Amino acid sequence: MSIIRIEDIAHVRFAAPDLETMRAFLIDFGLDPFLVDGCLYARGRDGRPFVHATQPGPAAFVALGLRAGSLDDLARLAAAEGVAVEPFAAPGGGHVVRLRDPDGFVVEVVAGQDTAAPAPDAVSLPRNAVAQRVRLRELVRLEPGPAHVFRIGHCVLKVADYRRSERWYKDRFGFLTSDEIEAAPGLPLGAFMRCDRGDVPSDHHTLFLAQLPGKPAFMHAAFEVMDFDDLMLGHQHLHARKRKPAWGVGRHIMGSQIFDYWRDPWGHELEHWTDGDLLTATDPPQTMTLRDLLAVQWGSPHPMFAGRLAPSPALVSRVIAFVTRLRQRFAARKQDTAS
Ligand SMILES: [Fe+2]
Repeated sequence: MSIIRIEDIAHVRFAAPDLETMRAFLIDFGLDPFLVDGCLYARGRDGRPFVHATQPGPAAFVALGLRAGSLDDLARLAAAEGVAVEPFAAPGGGHVVRLRDPDGFVVEVVAGQDTAAPAPDAVSLPRNAVAQRVRLRELVRLEPGPAHVFRIGHCVLKVADYRRSERWYKDRFGFLTSDEIEAAPGLPLGAFMRCDRGDVPSDHHTLFLAQLPGKPAFMHAAFEVMDFDDLMLGHQHLHARKRKPAWGVGRHIMGSQIFDYWRDPWGHELEHWTDGDLLTATDPPQTMTLRDLLAVQWGSPHPMFAGRLAPSPALVSRVIAFVTRLRQRFAARKQDTAS
């Protein structure tokens, strides 16, 4: 039983040396940025006070924000962790409990924020399919421009020890595994985890922890746009604005979402996504392979596999499995020496 069950991701927080440059990027990305007390915030259209924050400073990922269901939950979490519940000095107010995960990532657990009504425009048109003709006497006439980001949906972190981080996040926040990823049979290296909201459908993943070669790092944060047309209009707009593409457009296997990844001016990856899987608490976890993680159902291959001399997904999986085993052996030997 976890200390609390979080409802959703709330925000991601960065630092950047030039807030105006970040502001221009966020507008192109489809967010609505605004300055408060020298900090740049950006909201989506879901009525939440902000989903992206940038404070002045050398470029860095600063914190992951998670949303607790109530102030009582925050108090329970704070008591269990021996920390204080503090007023949250950010748009929307509310309160926050700040924790550090096993890799040192700051997690801001928030509750009691003011929210507004979702933006009323940018409604999706129904789509006609052979088996379902639902758009009748309505024409498709799309306005070029940035995507309409509705909300933040998930964050991906590279961790040093997947099992250790998985325990930490599950014990505190009640995450459920949707898909565990194996580099080789019996060698798990990460999991897509969702919020436990009982019968209420929840995104296939709110947090993805991945034990990959290299130091712990922020990998990307993802933002839901209105629909497929909106995602493609956003792609066209970011391309026209000469922003840096990272991967897409395509449809993932785990989570099934249609994705489109871009980099902010300091290289942090942000994803537009639409049409992801929604699961309830009773859906059982699945085991999938690293090849599934790197593959697409359709669309652009992962950039690692795009060139003429690109390695095969099988080779990449074998190399990562080898490195993971080596790291595990090294860590076990270090522990033996210490005890
Ligand atoms: Fe993603």
